[in-house]
Amino acid sequence: MYFLLLLGIAQVLPSIAQKTDMIPPVTQFGASKVEFTSAGAGLDGPKLDKVNATTFDWWYFDIGSENLNAEATLLMVTGDAFTLGFPFTLGTSNYGILTVLQPNDTIYQQIFLGGDATVVVSGDGSSGNWEGTGVSWTGTPDLSSYTVNIDVPLLGLEGTMTLKSIAPAHFPCSSNGAGQTEELFPNIGWANAIPDAVGTVDLNLGGEHVSFTGTGYHDKNWGAKRLPSTVTSWYWGHGRVGPYSLVWFDAIAIDGDEYISGYLAKNGTVVSSGCSGILVRPTRVNSEYPPAPLQGDPSGFHIEYTTSEGKFVVDVENHAVAWEPPLVSGGYTRWTGNITGGFEDQQQYTGATVHEWIPFYFNV
Ligand SMILES: *[C@@H]1O[C@H](CO)[C@@H](O)[C@H](O)[C@H]1NC(C)=O
Ligand SMILES: *[C@@H]1O[C@H](CO)[C@@H](O)[C@H](O)[C@H]1NC(C)=O
Ligand SMILES: *[C@@H]1O[C@H](CO)[C@@H](O)[C@H](O)[C@H]1NC(C)=O
Ligand SMILES: *[C@@H]1O[C@H](CO)[C@@H](O)[C@H](O)[C@H]1NC(C)=O
Repeated sequence: MYFLLLLGIAQVLPSIAQKTDMIPPVTQFGASKVEFTSAGAGLDGPKLDKVNATTFDWWYFDIGSENLNAEATLLMVTGDAFTLGFPFTLGTSNYGILTVLQPNDTIYQQIFLGGDATVVVSGDGSSGNWEGTGVSWTGTPDLSSYTVNIDVPLLGLEGTMTLKSIAPAHFPCSSNGAGQTEELFPNIGWANAIPDAVGTVDLNLGGEHVSFTGTGYHDKNWGAKRLPSTVTSWYWGHGRVGPYSLVWFDAIAIDGDEYISGYLAKNGTVVSSGCSGILVRPTRVNSEYPPAPLQGDPSGFHIEYTTSEGKFVVDVENHAVAWEPPLVSGGYTRWTGNITGGFEDQQQYTGATVHEWIPFYFNV
């Protein structure tokens, strides 16, 4: 009887394949095998068979507050820090970076140095743990919810970032599925597990408590080459305006070509998603495009989606700088932003974004 009951349960539960990768904290010799075509599962899993001195694979999580004055990002990386253009190497190729923009414009920053990185892939989702850091994440196989857990007693740092997805996953040129390209531009991959989420931040930063809700996001990028040797300018962002969730991407690769990807969903249903039909341009101050070498930060971005339902136009105003670390041969700025717009000749909305600009002046 019990046996039959168990059998019944076993048949009801979907069988989800689980795979565990253990990534050592030192780069490996030889060529990395890099995935650029989707397998039909494991959207958020590792994309390199091994990490060498010039390849990288990262997982990115952010939440920006509705009132634009707070933002938190966790970046978990496998790869030498030098592969991303940081002017330092960390003695481990498994590390994490937490940045938190606080309402008074103070930016909290912490770098976590890890031992072995363990990534468990189940369905399309992943869970990761960088040994010894106190930082980990867990995701569901269907990508519906992720939680980042932080517990570093030595720093008085603990808490969570939670994401409840409200928009389906996608690749640069398509929705999630097998046999899709994952290459955003030559040598760089992208999989966007959670384009928009109800995000909740609840963190204790060494005695200061920061908590807010807002628009959340999770994706991963990886590279077959060092990031600075692949791209000269990279605009990316995500946000929510009224019922619309959007993600934009515009890069100039070292071949001089422009690569774009745009995603727009309304109330969780995709309106437009792919690597055409989107225009992203800097606005007002320093709005020259393509940006000149050493050009300063623009005031914001003008974004137009051409969709089968008409033209969707938004303007993003940079509100606060959320992170601006030094890079060897370029720059990095992440902002919170105020976004206004909607479909042309329809109701216009305002909302919140998290967005970034990465220029590399010397492509080494
Ligand atoms: C790392 O792997 C990439 C991709 O296969 C390859 O092009 C590169 O030469 C490798 N780098 C090193 C230092 O072996
Ligand atoms: C965003 O911009 C709009 C239009 O300028 C303005 O009405 C709104 O107050 C701004 N929102 C925030 C949070 O600054
Ligand atoms: C900003 O707020 C944080 C947290 O409350 C505090 O630690 C910091 O000293 C404040 N900074 C300034 C410049 O007021
Ligand atoms: C979006 O969905 C919510 C709840 O599911 C609903 O109340 C709202 O009317 C929808 N908005 C639009 C613009 O479809």
